[in-house]
Amino acid sequence: MTRQLIAGNWKMNGTLAAAEALARALLDAPRDGIGAELLVCPPFVHLQAVGRILNGSDVALGAQDCSVAAGGAHTGDVAAPMLPELGCTHIVLGHSERRQNHHELDETVREKVVAARAAGLVPIVCVGETEEQRAAGQQDDVVGWQLKGSLPNDFADGPGVVAYEPVWAIGTGRTATEDDVAAMHGFIRAELVRQFGDKGASVRILYGGSVNATNAAALLGVPEVGGALVGGASLKPQDFLSIARAAV
Ligand code: G3P
Repeated sequence: MTRQLIAGNWKMNGTLAAAEALARALLDAPRDGIGAELLVCPPFVHLQAVGRILNGSDVALGAQDCSVAAGGAHTGDVAAPMLPELGCTHIVLGHSERRQNHHELDETVREKVVAARAAGLVPIVCVGETEEQRAAGQQDDVVGWQLKGSLPNDFADGPGVVAYEPVWAIGTGRTATEDDVAAMHGFIRAELVRQFGDKGASVRILYGGSVNATNAAALLGVPEVGGALVGGASLKPQDFLSIARAAV
């Protein structure tokens, strides 16, 4: 059975010294009861330092975004090919905070997935509805369109991950109920199989949205949950590893 993936999205937090200390604390902590794959995604400016600390360890390194372009006149952007040389193996794309703050469309996310794959990175593509959309019963329509628009036709031909992050659960302390998670992950699985055939059955689907050491076991035990994408709790090494211990 594929191990669950516990990924920490450090977002735009911390100093260089704090990022290095967090990486070292993760390495120094005991691994008893941890069978999950571990991944952390620091801010761009901390990637090289954190990558050097994690190099050769059981904690993989990921980025939080990339340009659609492989290089050139894109001031301020970071090209996907620049990331593996810092030790990155994964990349979070289409996070709701980028869809909201940078007006990223599904098409942009799809182009970034293509660029990331071309650079040899494993994309973790985020989807999720807003509170208003859920209140209107539109969550399946919204996530279905995001999947259809954000995933290239060959997405299931290589390593790739989908992360369901209900926007209203991110950073709020409110998680989706196990029933809601089961319903949405079942829906996403059906959509992945519809879009990609049998290969769609093996795409990992992470849950993200106020995952913590207390609720992790229940959430990670829900069918079709292949791991967690953790924000705030990933900034505390003991909490992050407690979540990893809850992985099945
Ligand atoms: O990408 C993970 C993140 O959006 C979840 O944040 O703080 O609710 O765990 P948080």
